[in-house]
Amino acid sequence: MTPFVIAVDGPAASGKGTVAARLGDLFGLPVLDTGLLYRAVGVLTERAGGDLDDAAAAAAVAAGLSAAQLGDPALRTRAAGELASRVAVHQQVRDALLAFQRDFAGQPGGAVLDGRDIGTVICPGAPAKLYVTATPEVRAERRWKQLSGQGEPVGYADVLADIRRRDERDGARDAAPMTQAPDAELLDTTEMTIEQAADAARRIVEAARARWQASEGTSGR
Ligand code: CDP
Repeated sequence: MTPFVIAVDGPAASGKGTVAARLGDLFGLPVLDTGLLYRAVGVLTERAGGDLDDAAAAAAVAAGLSAAQLGDPALRTRAAGELASRVAVHQQVRDALLAFQRDFAGQPGGAVLDGRDIGTVICPGAPAKLYVTATPEVRAERRWKQLSGQGEPVGYADVLADIRRRDERDGARDAAPMTQAPDAELLDTTEMTIEQAADAARRIVEAARARWQASEGTSGR
């Protein structure tokens, strides 16, 4: 039986992390926030005094990364998001993080992974794919509230500028640019509460699971 993988992609602060966590609870699957991997590589490269534009230096950090390093609260900061998107442009870094993500996705029973390239590069065969988005203004508002709640003083305008810059960099890069997979279901959360977004995601995944079960049944015969 192929693992039931749910791929959740989308831009910064679109709600994909929350949606992924809810889907994990609902379907009883482990969840990997792949953004944390890039955040860790960015933060650790900088801490080591490395050059973020040096693909080989950042890839060496990526190759040495361990799951235990992903719990660091420093990875949740505004600065870490920016560092992440800078190291994420390097194909070598992405290659170094590939096996970890594929192993996670390959767990018996399946998994939920959220990121930018899960449905396109990491798990192109995932039976359920969502592309979660919202307008830049709404995303900036959500991220601003989140950062303020974490005690990080920052203005809304700066957060909006961060989001626009990150969208541009993540979408324009050559290595696994952020894009909706052709078979991903679009979920625009601009006008939705968390509950509504989670509910819409659940319905999309239930339908995908029914199709997956039917196809598994057929291929198993
Ligand atoms: O939480 P937020 O959406 O702000 O960002 P994140 O998911 O933690 O990702 C931080 C950065 O890592 C993104 O802006 C991307 O540049 C990069 N990333 C990526 O390239 N591929 C992924 N699968 C996940 C994140």
